[in-house]
Amino acid sequence: MNSNKTFDEVIVNRFSCRNFTAERITTEELNYILEAGRLAPTAKNKQSERILVIENEGLLERLKEATPCTFDAKTVLVVCYDKNECWIRKTDSKYHGEIDATIVATQMMLATYAINLGTTFVCAFDNDILKSILDIPSNIEPVCLLPIGYPKEIKPHNTRVELEELVSYK
Ligand SMILES: Cc1cc2nc3c(=O)[nH]c(=O)nc-3n(C[C@H](O)[C@H](O)[C@H](O)COP(=O)(O)O)c2cc1C
Repeated sequence: MNSNKTFDEVIVNRFSCRNFTAERITTEELNYILEAGRLAPTAKNKQSERILVIENEGLLERLKEATPCTFDAKTVLVVCYDKNECWIRKTDSKYHGEIDATIVATQMMLATYAINLGTTFVCAFDNDILKSILDIPSNIEPVCLLPIGYPKEIKPHNTRVELEELVSYK
């Protein structure tokens, strides 16, 4: 496996990769990414995330019915949460599974870039079609997809607004 980048390199240079080579990532690389997700914090440590690894050619093709954003990656992770397992805040009954899954996906996205692979956080999918293609039960809710592969090109990430526009001190 390629050497790991520093935290600063990952944070500063990670970009959404939408152009992959035809090669599938190795099992070692996949496991490194999944482990980064497993170690993510979740509300009350409920670990409500459920991750589907899609590498089957037929399913990868069918995923295109649900989203234009698999970018022909040979590995696609579908990051979900289990509604029956996530923490629900008592004061307002807010389900925290989507937050759990988002943090898990973010750690996996950063881990992907850290080992010189590429991915994009994808939410543009038809939830009903996705659930039907992958036979996902009603208690499992997809949150995002991570198409993963070897980048065909290294690009800068999109620009960001200045900190002053985002942060206020009270
Ligand atoms: C919640 C979320 C949903 C996103 N959904 C998609 C998507 O469906 N398709 C896509 O191509 N990119 C998607 N992106 C990627 C963003 O467009 C991208 O992160 C943003 O433009 C900044 O670019 P950068 O990641 O290269 O810095 C999504 C990102 C986030 C955080």
